[in-house]
Amino acid sequence: VSTFGEALLAARARLGAAGVANAGLDARILLGAAAGLEQAGLIARASDLLPALAEARFDAHLSRRITGEPVARILGEQEFWGLPFRLNEATLVPRADTETLVETVLAEARRRRGPLRILDVGTGSGAILIALLSELGEAEGVGIDVSEAALAMARRNAERLGVAERAAFYLADFAAYSGETFDIVVSNPPYVRSGDIAGLAREVRDHDPHLALDGGDDGLAAYRTILARLPDLLAPDGLLAFEVGHDQGVQVQSLCEAAGFRDVTVCADLAATPRVVSGYRGMSGSRRGNAKIELGKLRITG
Ligand SMILES: C[S@@+](CC[C@H](N)C(=O)[O-])C[C@H]1O[C@@H](n2cnc3c(N)ncnc32)[C@H](O)[C@@H]1O
Repeated sequence: VSTFGEALLAARARLGAAGVANAGLDARILLGAAAGLEQAGLIARASDLLPALAEARFDAHLSRRITGEPVARILGEQEFWGLPFRLNEATLVPRADTETLVETVLAEARRRRGPLRILDVGTGSGAILIALLSELGEAEGVGIDVSEAALAMARRNAERLGVAERAAFYLADFAAYSGETFDIVVSNPPYVRSGDIAGLAREVRDHDPHLALDGGDDGLAAYRTILARLPDLLAPDGLLAFEVGHDQGVQVQSLCEAAGFRDVTVCADLAATPRVVSGYRGMSGSRRGNAKIELGKLRITG
């Protein structure tokens, strides 16, 4: 029998010895979850004895973490955009990097008037679409994925996070999906080169679904496929925003330009890594406001 404080110290040493990075942080999160306490509660109860049930749960959590299972998988939940997303084996753990994609789309959405329609291609847990709908009270959106299990979790997340009335999730392959057109298409597609998957950290390689990772031989297959579908899915002057791998910014920018997108820019994430490529469909001129001026000019000269 040990106290909360002793259990935490022992766990940190155990995880550290097993080569787990951030051993102290992971130990605190897992102990909090096992005991049903917030971090402040753990500190307040440092010298109390750890109840047997919590100790057993904590031990089970630690054993899983030692084999490389990430904390988010053990708890079945990950915070994204300040919201708690439930996860299952078919959903990628949403990454903090992907918040850059949400920020890019929000900046554009706030420049536009009227209710927006947003398509999230490869929605997984629904993280991107649900974060956007939580910020844009009038927007509606569709998330598509080829995994029925991921979609079930996305629907559940939309319910729990209060946006289900404005979100629909469909089983569809992005190579073939069609339906209506959207004002904004956003996607964090699979973008890891097939040959690089074996060398990924075990937390990713062994626990994230390969369907969510594998971007084909050069990692760019999904971008090409999605770009080919966009004429049917994105309204003229609509915004496309892709998340990209750390070394894919320039290549995806070129693919977007070759597909006829305008003002294609690459944005960095908080770690200064190129992370989002975005651009506009069809119309010439820079951002939406200027594009209207260009049209006016055309009318005058024509
Ligand atoms: C990198 S994950 C992104 C998940 C989520 N949007 C996020 O950012 O956390 C890519 C997603 O694309 C889905 N996917 C893979 N191939 C697909 C395809 N051909 N059509 C539709 N979705 C696909 C995967 O199931 C996975 O959920």
